[in-house]
Amino acid sequence: MTVTIVGSQLGDEGKGALVDLWGGDADVVARYQGGDNAGHTVVEDGEEYKLSLVPSGAVRDKVGVLGNGCVINPNTLFSEIDTLRERGLDPDVRLARRAHVIMPYHRRLDNVEEEAKADSDEELVVGTTGRGIGPTYEDKAGRRGIRVGDLLDPEVLRQRLEYAVPQKRALIEDVYGLEAGEECDVEKLVEEYTEIGRRLAEDDMTVNCGDFLARRREAGENVMFEGAQGTLIDIDHGSYPYVTSSNPTAGGAATGTGVGPSVVGRGEVVGIVKSYLSRVGEGPMPTELKDDDREEELADFIREKGGEFGTVTGRPRRIGWLDIPMLRHAARVSGFTGIAVNHLDVLAGLDEVKVGHSYELDGEELLTMPATTERWAKCEPNLREFDPWPEVDWSSVAEDGYDAVPENAREYLDYVSGEMDVPIYAVGVGPDRAETVELANPFEQ
Ligand code: IMP
Repeated sequence: MTVTIVGSQLGDEGKGALVDLWGGDADVVARYQGGDNAGHTVVEDGEEYKLSLVPSGAVRDKVGVLGNGCVINPNTLFSEIDTLRERGLDPDVRLARRAHVIMPYHRRLDNVEEEAKADSDEELVVGTTGRGIGPTYEDKAGRRGIRVGDLLDPEVLRQRLEYAVPQKRALIEDVYGLEAGEECDVEKLVEEYTEIGRRLAEDDMTVNCGDFLARRREAGENVMFEGAQGTLIDIDHGSYPYVTSSNPTAGGAATGTGVGPSVVGRGEVVGIVKSYLSRVGEGPMPTELKDDDREEELADFIREKGGEFGTVTGRPRRIGWLDIPMLRHAARVSGFTGIAVNHLDVLAGLDEVKVGHSYELDGEELLTMPATTERWAKCEPNLREFDPWPEVDWSSVAEDGYDAVPENAREYLDYVSGEMDVPIYAVGVGPDRAETVELANPFEQ
């Protein structure tokens, strides 16, 4: 059995809590895209773990796999593993040999290009996390990348670096007019990354991902595919170019791990929805709360209460009402079989709760998102108002179950579930794993 977890919005939907909850029934938790641009917070018995690369399941003694669709910064990986070990955990993390490695020149180029865009035209800036994600995927598609498997063979590593690095140097110096530094020192890179390869080999951390997962499944084990980021920053289905460079949507679970799409499709695909919207970085956001002082105050309140600051970069997130056309789009692209709605408690006690039910564009009502970002930016939301719900003791609600959720909040949830045409599997009412109202466990469907 497989369960795939997908962000329905712009990332930061609180996927970690659900991966952690349902990951209890998984034997293996595999990430299928992205790298250390992701940030997931797992809270267990009041202990908070902030991870960006290690799959959330590692906090619960699961085998964590970074699939071939991921881009891996080995230094981040080792430092997260070391920190978890210092806190008494012993994470078992395997890396696909087909996954690509984020090299120091990728990080440099990520920042150089963002700065060049800012100098040329502010509107071009993506607001990346600066982790080298885009340049690494560029090299993957350009067939000049360094893969995890290459780190295990110093000769291959040298050959690849001797081809790629002069190009990066030329780009930095001749195109951007900057000075290349240590990130373009082939000898240093060969030495450092051979050493990393040695540690990976010594700790037996690399796998042939598709084969590894097939064997675990044949042995009857449950696999959870953990998507990072969200549908609207998917490179194909998101608000291009304000996207990340991978496929967080469910199709990525197959291509990014080496299992067949039918395997993913026979399992459950759960969309994670935050009860309002947040966005880090640039790009349109039709339901953004920013039009007047009152909206800005409301956004500040939600931001503070919901802790809406980037896990990776600490940037304050932009805040908006729930965007239903976006959720219809997400449900279709990934074929959700269920959803989990998070952060319901954050909206409690407000004077008003609204959602963007549809958009108005060129005098027409749209129920889903237009395909170009420019047209999306022109969409005006048709807002629908809901009766607000009071602040309650959410821990007791989590204990007592769905019927204890305030009635107005249940109306809100029923509406979301109806519009997305999928059942609700869980409702998050606080950050701790225990603060989740579970209606169904996808592993038991
Ligand atoms: P990149 O993934 O660093 O290239 O950034 C591309 C875009 O995706 C930027 O707008 C980032 O803010 C956004 N992004 C990347 N990772 C995350 C995430 O985990 N949560 C939310 N936004 C993200």
